[in-house]
Amino acid sequence: MTTKKILITGGAGFIGSHVVRRMVNYYPDYHIYNLDKLTYAGNLENLRDIENSPNYTFIKADIVDGEKMHSLFSEYQFDAVIHLAAESHVDRSISNPMEFITTNIVGTVSLLNAAKANWKTFDEKLFYHVSTDEVYGSLGEEGFFTEETKYNPHSPYSASKASSDHLVRAYHDTYGLPIKISNCSNNYGANHFPEKLIPLAIHNIKNNQPIPVYGKGENVRDWLYVEDHATAIDLIFHKGKVGATYNIGGFNEWKNIDLIHLLCRIMDKKLKRADGTSAKLITYVKDRAGHDLRYAIDATKLNKELGWNPSLQFEEGLEKTVDWYLTNEDWLNHVTSGDYQKYYEVQYTKR
Ligand code: NAD
Ligand code: TYD
Repeated sequence: MTTKKILITGGAGFIGSHVVRRMVNYYPDYHIYNLDKLTYAGNLENLRDIENSPNYTFIKADIVDGEKMHSLFSEYQFDAVIHLAAESHVDRSISNPMEFITTNIVGTVSLLNAAKANWKTFDEKLFYHVSTDEVYGSLGEEGFFTEETKYNPHSPYSASKASSDHLVRAYHDTYGLPIKISNCSNNYGANHFPEKLIPLAIHNIKNNQPIPVYGKGENVRDWLYVEDHATAIDLIFHKGKVGATYNIGGFNEWKNIDLIHLLCRIMDKKLKRADGTSAKLITYVKDRAGHDLRYAIDATKLNKELGWNPSLQFEEGLEKTVDWYLTNEDWLNHVTSGDYQKYYEVQYTKR
């Protein structure tokens, strides 16, 4: 018997596809509704293995369409929402902020309104908002983001996510809507669209194209394997406190240039190229505007309260990721064959 109807937004995207797969496979009693607009970043190929599961339904819709969200909530009577749909790439947000404001802010409010209006009682209901550590801004050489760190976003992407986080909390504080929020560090793994650093570098190395490294390559990111993020979301969804925020991170900081060198070594090995071949493709390019120097998450709360820990070492996760991209050439060719590049202009100008 179905005990819960869960709406997952953005389930055809990178992280969303891992969350949908996990929820469909681990919780046969739940019915999972994956709502996605299928933008350039959404791809139903990411979910081929579960698309015929009896507890899975795909709904193509735009979260910005408030009336549609209202009627879907009314029709399906969702018990809970895990909200991941968003515009997610910082470079795109720099060239086209409005799309980020519309989807990430207006879209989130349209879902909040649909939940608030249709949930006759808030008992046993939940609106879980998936967010990013980028809302906290940038760290210097020292320190970590905790759940108490003040928001200080810099890019249009992070500002739009910060705004959506505030609105989700406002619906809790004002209307009593049961919410949870998690803020996660940079993810990597299968199904990652090849405009983000790791899949872009894998794609370019494979095709003997330059690997663009912004600025001096000294910016630091804290990388987490995407399935570990999905595990954390599952745990917070089921066991986290209502109204609470949880930071999720890998305690795994890498300077971009060091990460790229590691990736080049793995690619040389996998492609049976002479050591040092891939590293020759490294190309320093103009820095990203307003480029945050360092992100690092303190995930102690999640560990202490809910017992979560990342499961994979970075080298192991990166090898798995490379293997996935090399054995899923069709996926890579398919998602890069469209006109996605026209939406943004990263200047791959040699410095
Ligand atoms: P993604 O860009 O790969 O996927 C986003 C998905 O949302 C796509 O399937 C897209 O079609 C869908 N979508 C976009 N606009 C929509 C709309 N208006 N209506 C319905 N669907 C729409 O993103 P991702 O990397 O999987 O990120 C998912 C969520 O996790 C985002 O909210 C992001 O802010 C957050 N997050 C991402 C990272 C990361 O490293 N990628 C880290 C922390 C948090
Ligand atoms: P990205 O994957 O876009 O994630 P985010 O900006 O959300 O952290 O970028 C990760 C880091 O890599 C960031 O410091 C920017 C840098 N970067 C490059 O150096 N070259 C690239 O081509 C891209 C896409 C990113």
